[in-house]
Amino acid sequence: MRSLIAGNWKMHGEMSWAGKADELEKLYPAKNRTHLDILICPPALFIAPMVRSCSKANINLGGQNCHAQENGAHTGEVSAQMLKLAGANFVIVGHSERRAAGETDKMVRDKASAANRAGITPIICVGESLAQRESGKAEAVVSAQIKSSIPEIEDYVVAYEPIWAIGTGKTATAKDIEQMHAPIRKIVGEGVRILYGGSVKPANAKEILSTKNVNGALIGGASLEMESLAAIAKAA
Ligand code: PGA
Repeated sequence: MRSLIAGNWKMHGEMSWAGKADELEKLYPAKNRTHLDILICPPALFIAPMVRSCSKANINLGGQNCHAQENGAHTGEVSAQMLKLAGANFVIVGHSERRAAGETDKMVRDKASAANRAGITPIICVGESLAQRESGKAEAVVSAQIKSSIPEIEDYVVAYEPIWAIGTGKTATAKDIEQMHAPIRKIVGEGVRILYGGSVKPANAKEILSTKNVNGALIGGASLEMESLAAIAKAA
């Protein structure tokens, strides 16, 4: 299975960052990474200006969220179709930062369906809180999220991101990751890529990416600098 190395820029960036694709291409040329997919998910309004440099460097573009409907009176929202028109072929749905703002499994499932209808691949995020892990409920929580957040579609990616590891510098151990990716694999089957996310950086990428049932990474902080994104991709 091809690895997917996905950068989530969150609310970071400016127009000049379109040049980051050229930077990445210099650090890790497309001809040397035909065995993996690289994806950058910038803030939605930066997708279109990045299309040219990203297609030259064979880098995919994705959104960080989408609305469940195609269009309508939803001020401030962006639909999956709009992301697709702008040049995206992936979209992150159900990131824990959005779930914390009230997004439910049902909303995540509807967004993933909308992405599928628009012809882009949803990256469906799941993950437990520290309290849930400490009370021994991590696997039950994540399994329930998976079952309720994934619609009846074939083309999707799952990202397991323990909330306590996001942006904290704390990474789950290879054992923690393996123990969670195994039950996820049982539910989603062999054909679906399962990413790990949460403080992935060059120093821990090799170990994480060689863990069983890990098919790539969803990277926040370390995806803002092309040196670190390239180093992580080289470990895949
Ligand atoms: P992080 O973020 O790599 O900065 O921990 C990961 C994510 O939120 O997707």
